[in-house]
Amino acid sequence: MNIKHFLTLDSLNRKELEAIINRALELKAQTKRRKFEATLNNRVLGMIFEKSSTRTRVSFETGMTQLGGHAIYLAPTGSQIGRGEPLKDTARVLSKMVDCIMLRTFEHEKLEEFSSYSDVPVINGLSDSFHPCQLLADLLTYIEARGSIENKNVVWLGDGNNMCHSYMNAARIFNFQLIVSCPKEFVPNSEIFESSKKNTSIEHDPYKAADGADLIITDVWASMGKEDEQKDRKEKFMKYQVNSEIMSCAKDNALFMHCLPAHRGEEVTEDVLEGPQSIVWEEAGNRLHSQKALLEFLLM
Ligand code: CP
Ligand code: NVA
Repeated sequence: MNIKHFLTLDSLNRKELEAIINRALELKAQTKRRKFEATLNNRVLGMIFEKSSTRTRVSFETGMTQLGGHAIYLAPTGSQIGRGEPLKDTARVLSKMVDCIMLRTFEHEKLEEFSSYSDVPVINGLSDSFHPCQLLADLLTYIEARGSIENKNVVWLGDGNNMCHSYMNAARIFNFQLIVSCPKEFVPNSEIFESSKKNTSIEHDPYKAADGADLIITDVWASMGKEDEQKDRKEKFMKYQVNSEIMSCAKDNALFMHCLPAHRGEEVTEDVLEGPQSIVWEEAGNRLHSQKALLEFLLM
């Protein structure tokens, strides 16, 4: 059976991703008019969270409801997964009951294994290595605000983490230039970097990196699962904080994005997060529209 999964941005090609973004724009306009099409009537999404979430959970759940379907939330504790039932067993059982499964987990390999046992589409709701759903929303947000992202200068400041990896994939697929600025110890995964190096470079000086940027992005310095490194990382990353000085190196009309949750005073200052160049609230809201379009793409 040829099932479409969405485990990284590379699961789909540029044309398919652009179709999802265009459909998201349509769905967003409809939602603003409170007009809803029941394109996924009676379809059910199972959502397995092995890590915490606010945006991912609420956007998928609301999205399924607005499309006429339903979503079931399985929390980090409370299901049999939390008591050690293997994911490959859960994949086969849920496949018999639901139409699509979203999984938020730790090692990316778990998602790959899970999807190989699933008879229904599997969506990566964040792994240690990638966060492709957030990229759908980020691309939508940039395109809405400024038009095509092709050939734009995008700067990632902070940890070479899951979000950074998904940005590296996006840079290759959508042909924009990405500069990653991070401490030497926290560079992105070398294999992912190799595959995107035509569009990605590393610049350890944050001021040089931010020079002439169209878009500046950051994320928490200690991702979920790395909480015990928080204190140590805070010292090592301070130079990479997005503050007004960094923003002043970028173009005058540069935008600021952050997948949230944000740690004010760490990776971003209050004035930048709440300032006129920040579009983080629109970005968060766009999770709803882009994921509704993704669900339709995978299920229709
Ligand atoms: N950005 C994001 O994925 O947020 P949540 O962790 O709240 O889902
Ligand atoms: N890099 C962050 C993203 C949270 C949405 C994490 O993995 O915790």
